[in-house]
Amino acid sequence: MPGIVIVGAQWGDEGKGKATDLIAGRVNYVARYNGGSNAGHTVVVNGKTYALRLMPSGIVNPGVTAVIGNGVAFDPQELVEEKSKLEAEGIDTSHLLISLSAQVTTPYHRLLDRVSESHRGKRKIGTTGRGIGPTYADKVNRVGIRVADLFNEKVLRAKVEQNLALKNELLTKIYGTDPVDPDKCTDELLKTAQVIKPYCTNTALVLNRALDRGESVLFEGGQATMLDIDHGTYPFVTSSNPTAGGACTGTGVGPTKITRVVGVSKAYVTRVGAGPFPTELTGQEGDWLRERGHEYGVVTKRPRRCGWFDALVVKYAVMVNGLTDLVITKLDTLTGLKKIPICVAYDVTEPDGSTHRVTDMPVDQAEFASAKPVYKEMDGWSENITGITDFDRLPAAAQAYIREIENLVGCRVSLIGNGPSRSHIIRLHSIVE
Ligand code: IMP
Repeated sequence: MPGIVIVGAQWGDEGKGKATDLIAGRVNYVARYNGGSNAGHTVVVNGKTYALRLMPSGIVNPGVTAVIGNGVAFDPQELVEEKSKLEAEGIDTSHLLISLSAQVTTPYHRLLDRVSESHRGKRKIGTTGRGIGPTYADKVNRVGIRVADLFNEKVLRAKVEQNLALKNELLTKIYGTDPVDPDKCTDELLKTAQVIKPYCTNTALVLNRALDRGESVLFEGGQATMLDIDHGTYPFVTSSNPTAGGACTGTGVGPTKITRVVGVSKAYVTRVGAGPFPTELTGQEGDWLRERGHEYGVVTKRPRRCGWFDALVVKYAVMVNGLTDLVITKLDTLTGLKKIPICVAYDVTEPDGSTHRVTDMPVDQAEFASAKPVYKEMDGWSENITGITDFDRLPAAAQAYIREIENLVGCRVSLIGNGPSRSHIIRLHSIVE
């Protein structure tokens, strides 16, 4: 009964798509449990790159059922576009299931996301503009539209009308935009509903029955630990729970059915959007990492902020997710550096101006924003490591770098990514028995 969760251990874009895809080939189901079309998963299959947003990564594996769980902010228009794009590229998308309880992202959520971001001025979060925050706000406010509502015209029309009565006031009077026409919006939703109808079902039942039969499910988290609405760098976070607990609430599967929790981390750190980032490199070293690692957003194309590996962040991810395994991606990006710093502590400043050193992630965000990294310098290596599949054949300095990470964060490293393709991987421990 293996239920495996895969979660980002940093601020997203850790290469979860690749790790997921590697495991996905060996499981029966891949289920997305949080986020929506704000995710950007790059999957490379047979030399071809697929950029997925809302679709679970398992969609590129023909033998796998790809599930969109109830915890997802589901944008039907985006799904239909992504589906036809994948089909045009020769991918069979018929093995898809969508939860009838997932919250629907509508055109007015997308609009509200964009206008409220510009209204924040200097206090922008740097959202992806995909309507994620407004969708979850409606869910918690108990005015959200769920997938099942898309198939009941009367209910849908009433909900859209009720929501827009208030939101149009906000849009026109506060944000100064045009109102959204409730009838037009409902008609658009009804149209896409027909395309997705055959895939919509009670996915909690499907997943639980599969696990009870002894089949395996990979729970795929969008975004990452440090973007979690509860455990991340609030308010510079997304509006869902990417952390492992979200896999249960976001699919309707109980925690006793989760057998492994796999965290994915880059060998360094990147972040898109605003918010504190203690090990960020703003000068030439940051530019070097960005170019070497091709660090530009899949969804927004924004240049990613880059920095050195932060052991406090990943140690925290090990704790809040209960990680059993760690995947380190893009180790090859660091090749050529003479020295590689790892952040092992922060010097933080209290409101009274006093400073002290911490080795655990501060939860007070003012304290976190004041954090100055304390580094341990590791030796670098110059040999090309792409294509090596045996850990013992890595240069000694690269081996020592990985062992130091394990030591500092308290979790074993099971896979190491050392190049862009599916085969560029070193396996230390098996994740799927
Ligand atoms: P939202 O999820 O669009 O509301 O954006 C909130 C924050 O999460 C912003 O800083 C985004 O850049 C970040 N974010 C959302 N999705 C991803 C992702 O897939 N990778 C990295 N950052 C993300």
